[in-house]
Amino acid sequence: MASLYKHLLLILFISVVPISQSVILNPDYYKTSCPDFDRIVLEQVHEKQSKFVTTAAATLRLFFHDCMTGGCDASILIGSTSDNKAEKDHEDNLSLPGDAFDVVSRIKTALELVCPGVVSCADILTATTRNLIVMVGGPHYPVHLGRKDGLISHASRVEGSLPNTEMNADRMIQYFGDRGFSVQEMVALLGAHTIGFANCGKFTKRLFNYSAETPTDPALKPAYAEALKNLCSNPETNVTMAAFNDVKTPGKFDNQYYKNLPKGLGLLTTDNILVQDPRTRPIVELYAANETAFFKDFGDAMVKMSYFQVKGDGEPGGEVRRRCDASNSVD
Ligand code: HEM
Repeated sequence: MASLYKHLLLILFISVVPISQSVILNPDYYKTSCPDFDRIVLEQVHEKQSKFVTTAAATLRLFFHDCMTGGCDASILIGSTSDNKAEKDHEDNLSLPGDAFDVVSRIKTALELVCPGVVSCADILTATTRNLIVMVGGPHYPVHLGRKDGLISHASRVEGSLPNTEMNADRMIQYFGDRGFSVQEMVALLGAHTIGFANCGKFTKRLFNYSAETPTDPALKPAYAEALKNLCSNPETNVTMAAFNDVKTPGKFDNQYYKNLPKGLGLLTTDNILVQDPRTRPIVELYAANETAFFKDFGDAMVKMSYFQVKGDGEPGGEVRRRCDASNSVD
């Protein structure tokens, strides 16, 4: 009887402690070691985003790509060297805008002046992302701190670690499921596409080469499809041309993304899938009708993501980098 009781307790414990959150992080991690952490991050974020309004979306995507490749360890910030092609130089990361790297680097420089060697680049990226989301209207979810910077950054590790627009619903659900996210969390996270851009190359197939029967994806609202065709009509310039992910309120973090989807205003095939698949459609409808529910679920999912394969205090494979673009062993 006692062993059954112990067994039940164990099951209960396992089911309430998400596996990805086994590393102990906490919001007050720098309270005594770097009391100015919050202020410095906030000031720098405000300065950067006010001048370069695309920084918020750029940084949110940078954070996602970092976490999905070997965990949230700022490995994406490391630069390539003569004998190592780093993550950031993998094809899938080449379109990550420089402003996202720049804001983290500015904050690191400012922090090193007041508390040298204390704050990890991975924590800076996590806190910067949250603050930028808030600045463009999104939810203020908690930032848990204490992660270490990774020692490894190889382009080869990006292979297969990021989602792509060719995925169907099953593959999307599998991709996020493999990383511990439920279908609801996946739909909430995709709400990140309420801000930012996508280059023509990421959706021209929907416009010009959809299928043998029809060149244009019938799920796209016709007027929207025409506007996108005009934008992306020249293959020569398509590399630089980009459309807003959320055509209605592109710079505002809100639930407009979900309202767009049933109207044929989802930009990427993978966005549109969310409203077509019966497993995800009810969640799209929920978030379209209830921004509070979206903000709550998005915030919770971001906190969960921020724990993904994190290296905590005393664990091997982590350090506090002196500069974010190189491991300490390099300089
Ligand atoms: C099935 C999953 C996903 C796919 C296929 C996908 C794909 C894409 C693509 C193709 C772009 C445009 C990139 C370019 O043109 O260079 C993009 C942009 C973006 N993605 Fe995703 N994404 C996914 C999930 C996510 C998630 C989970 C987040 C964050 C939580 C996110 C955040 C962003 C942001 C903020 C942008 C705009 C970046 C900017 O304007 O600089 N994406 N995504």
